[in-house]
Amino acid sequence: MTYDEAYSLLEQYDQLHLLEYYEKLSAGEREKLLEQIANIDFSVLTICKQGHQSNTSRGVIQPLAAMQLSLIEQHKEEYTQLGMQAIKQGKVAALLLAGGMGTRLGSDAPKGMYNIGVTKEVYIFERLICNLLDVVKQAGVWIPLFIMTSDKNHQATVTFLKEKDFFGYREEEVTFFMQDMAPATDYQGKIYLEDKGCISMSPNGNGGWFSSMIRSGALKKATDKGVEWINLFAVDNVLQRIADPCFIGATIATKSAVGAKVVKKVAPDEKVGVMCLEDGKPTIIEYYELTEELMNETDEAGDPAYNFGVILNYLFRIEDLQNSTKLEIPVHIVEKKISHLEKGVLIKPEKPNGYKFETLVLDMIHLADSCLPYEVVRDYEFAPIKNKEGVDSVESARILCEKNKITL
Ligand code: UTP
Repeated sequence: MTYDEAYSLLEQYDQLHLLEYYEKLSAGEREKLLEQIANIDFSVLTICKQGHQSNTSRGVIQPLAAMQLSLIEQHKEEYTQLGMQAIKQGKVAALLLAGGMGTRLGSDAPKGMYNIGVTKEVYIFERLICNLLDVVKQAGVWIPLFIMTSDKNHQATVTFLKEKDFFGYREEEVTFFMQDMAPATDYQGKIYLEDKGCISMSPNGNGGWFSSMIRSGALKKATDKGVEWINLFAVDNVLQRIADPCFIGATIATKSAVGAKVVKKVAPDEKVGVMCLEDGKPTIIEYYELTEELMNETDEAGDPAYNFGVILNYLFRIEDLQNSTKLEIPVHIVEKKISHLEKGVLIKPEKPNGYKFETLVLDMIHLADSCLPYEVVRDYEFAPIKNKEGVDSVESARILCEKNKITL
């Protein structure tokens, strides 16, 4: 893209300030900046005006019964065998979503590199790989592990895992791919610069995993190997069971297109996304969309009808996603802390100062014809690390690890 082309494009979107330092840049820096401008998806900026938490209207919301612990226990052997069979046949891959910035944790390094140990070093990546290795050992076969990173943390993640010998995972079984990026803006929708010749871009949310897998060739690699199911999991839940044979078996046995691990909510207004049906199709509604009326609704057993929250551990059938005619999911606008240049100086804000644009994996559930909410015991499988202290923090995860006899 030439300077003139960039100028007219930016003028059209009212973003000419991005060329403020152009004259001061070296030839190489100018080229990089023009390339960045050429690759920006400006369409996301149109939703900026709608503001944070814009209310898109919802269809008819109805409960979606979860497969609860007692039923899982009754079928445990059958489901585990079925899941194990799929794993042994090479039909299951694991996908670690590690492209996020982990801003709430406040570490500059990728979240997985965070040491949660007390008496020794125990990294988040290590805990997750250790959990997956349990199943590998049980099954006697390697499970292909895909790791989604972003431009911001790719190099650091790869270098760290290589240095640590993948914490015992076989390197040939690990495939990295990078997700796409989106611009970050201030509250008026002006894109931030993070350096004189560099636009502030951030990962475009975990909902981009499938398209990024296709673009990078990672999906082809998986399907060439015979993978049919992908178990997607977040980097921050250090207790979750990955490629859990019983969960896989239950999803297959119930002929569900997607399986979603869920936990019973601790309170009706807990801030978690809740599994339900919208116009007859599976979906997840956010806690702030749950009206008083829905919150008080009960099922046949007298329990709250919207009682199960998702924990970002899903099993997707690749074929369904490939056959889905429209993979379009909404773009969300999220308030975040964004490092940026102000009067030529880099500012690292303490509080949110603008917007990032993200698609979310939970919106993909609505593309599926069926979804199995599969209950797991909260204290055994849900220890998310979002913050340094308090709720969902390193502190709370340590307590839960101790409860599960994991030495940190
Ligand atoms: P979070 O929603 O917790 O976001 O991600 P985050 O960026 O890691 O953390 P904060 O909000 O800045 O503190 C949930 C999961 O989705 C992944 C994360 O790595 C985590 O596993 N994720 C998130 C991506 O892979 N890409 C993204 O663009 C965003």
